[in-house]
Amino acid sequence: MIESLMSSLGIWLADLPSRLFPKLFGGTSVAIEPASLRDAPRLAQLHRASFHRGWGTDEFEQILIERNALAHRLRRGNRTIGFIVSRIAADEAEILSVAIAAKYRGQGYSRDLLRTHLGHLAGHGLKTVFLEVEENNRPARSLYARAGFRVVGQRERYYKDAGGEQLNAVVMRRDLS
Ligand SMILES: CC(C)(COP(=O)(O)OP(=O)(O)OC[C@H]1O[C@@H](n2cnc3c(N)ncnc32)[C@H](O)[C@@H]1OP(=O)(O)O)[C@@H](O)C(=O)NCCC(=O)NCCS
Repeated sequence: MIESLMSSLGIWLADLPSRLFPKLFGGTSVAIEPASLRDAPRLAQLHRASFHRGWGTDEFEQILIERNALAHRLRRGNRTIGFIVSRIAADEAEILSVAIAAKYRGQGYSRDLLRTHLGHLAGHGLKTVFLEVEENNRPARSLYARAGFRVVGQRERYYKDAGGEQLNAVVMRRDLS
């Protein structure tokens, strides 16, 4: 009993600096925040590392400057490790892109990011969200299915991979209530 208390105390003390000064010690607090123009270079970096046809900083700047775009960044400690960006038209939104840095994938970060983002879209009064995803992108398909998206269409040979192979996409939809 005493041993386990001492051990817990040891862990708590060892972790104290990063909890008290997360910025200074690069702690592991996670935050989902609106992304702004200043995030464009980092979002482009994350996008390039995640997609065959990566978007440049200027492309992100153009999107982020639009009044009908909504973007969130995921911060872990003092580093942006993911983002999601949508475009709004009338009472619908389209998710344009979402990515998590490779090192942090498979830990559920994108679920929180997507949930928060959808909450904001709903808060803007939007009724429906659409997206397109490569049909064999298992992590993304799983993420969207778990979040309540359903396949409503197919686009033949919609993407090209790095080897030039043409890949199908599916269109997914989720109603916001
Ligand atoms: C898609 C992506 C955003 C998911 O982010 P993530 O934080 O890793 O997602 P999660 O940890 O919540 O995992 C989502 C699902 O993918 C699964 N998954 C994670 N890595 C996987 C892998 N390498 N292979 C197969 N499934 C995997 C997880 O098990 C989980 O499935 P589950 O809900 O059935 O358990 C991330 O993989 C990514 O950035 N990919 C590159 C960019 C991309 O493809 N974006 C989507 C374009 S539409």
